[in-house]
Amino acid sequence: MNIGVISVQIVSISSLKGGVGKTSVTSGLVSAALSAGLRTLVIDLDPHADLSTAMGLPSTREHSIGDLLKRPRRIDLQDHVRVAPWVGIAAKNDSSGERRVLDIIGGSATTGLYDRPDLSTRDIRRLETLLARTTEYDMVFIDCPPSFSGLTRMAWATSDDVVLVAEPGLFSVAGTERTLRALRMFSAAFAPHIMTGYVVANRVRADFPEHSYRVDEMRQMFGDVLLEPILPEYYEWQQVQGAAYPIHYWPTAEARAAAARFDELLGKIQHSPKTPPAA
Ligand SMILES: Nc1ncnc2c1ncn2[C@@H]1O[C@H](COP(=O)(O)OP(=O)(O)OP(=O)(O)O)[C@@H](O)[C@H]1O
Ligand SMILES: [Mg+2]
Repeated sequence: MNIGVISVQIVSISSLKGGVGKTSVTSGLVSAALSAGLRTLVIDLDPHADLSTAMGLPSTREHSIGDLLKRPRRIDLQDHVRVAPWVGIAAKNDSSGERRVLDIIGGSATTGLYDRPDLSTRDIRRLETLLARTTEYDMVFIDCPPSFSGLTRMAWATSDDVVLVAEPGLFSVAGTERTLRALRMFSAAFAPHIMTGYVVANRVRADFPEHSYRVDEMRQMFGDVLLEPILPEYYEWQQVQGAAYPIHYWPTAEARAAAARFDELLGKIQHSPKTPPAA
C-alpha cells in the first residue's frame, strides 16, 4: 500500500484448508522480519487467535482486531497496537542493541462477526480503512482463518501480496490451485493492487515418496509462484510454539536451519516483483 512516498508492504497468509500451517508460516516470517530489523506489524485475523498465543500475547478483547474493525475510521492504530513479547526475547539474545519494532494487534472471537460469506463490499474494506494511514512499518503480516469467507476477503482487499500455504497432499494441492483462481478473480473485482500470489509448501517429509511426488507436481503446476525453499516437517516446531518463541532465537541446529529458510522466503516476498498474479 502506498501512502504518500512511504510504502508499507502488506502480506496476508491464507489457505482455504485448515491446519496446513498458515499461523506457523506467518510466525516464521515475522520472526525473520524481527531478526532482520524490519519495522513490523502483525494482525491476527483468525478468531481462534493462535498467532497471538504463539507470540505470547495475553488475550484481551480490548484492542483486539475484532473491536477495532467495528469503527475503523475513528481509530488511530498506534493507540491500539501492543508491543509483541518477542521484542523482549530478541533484546535479550541480541548484543547489537538495535531497537526492534514488532507490534501486534491481537485476535479475538469478536472477529467472527465478520467471517460471513455475505459480507458487504463496505465491510470488506474495513481492514483497508483501518490500515490506510499506517506509515510506521516496513511490513504488515496478516494471519487469516481457514476459509474464503469475510475475514480472508478483508485481508486480501488490503494486501499487496498473498501467501497461500499448502501441504504436499492431493487435497491441499488441488485446494491451493482453486484458491489461486479465487485470488485472481477477487483481485480483478476488488483488489487490483494485489501484486503477487505465492504458494509456500509446508511440512514436507523427505522420506515420504508421496510428498516428493506432490512437491514436483506443485513445481509443475505453480512454476515461480511456488516459493523455494520448501519447508520441511520440523520435529521441534510445536515445542518452539508452545514456548511462544520466535524460531530465530531458539538455540538448536534445527531451529537455525528453519530460521535460514524463513530468511530466504522473506527475501523473496519482500520487495516482490510488481506483477499481477500469474494467469
Ligand atoms: N513445518 C512444520 N513442522 C512441524 N509442525 C508443523 C509445521 N507447520 C505446522 N506445524 C504444526 O501443525 C499444526 C497446524 O499448524 P498451524 O496452526 O500453523 O496451521 P493453520 O493453517 O494456521 O491452522 P488453522 O487453519 O487452524 O488456522 C500446529 O500444531 C503446528 O505446530
Ligand atoms: Mg492458524
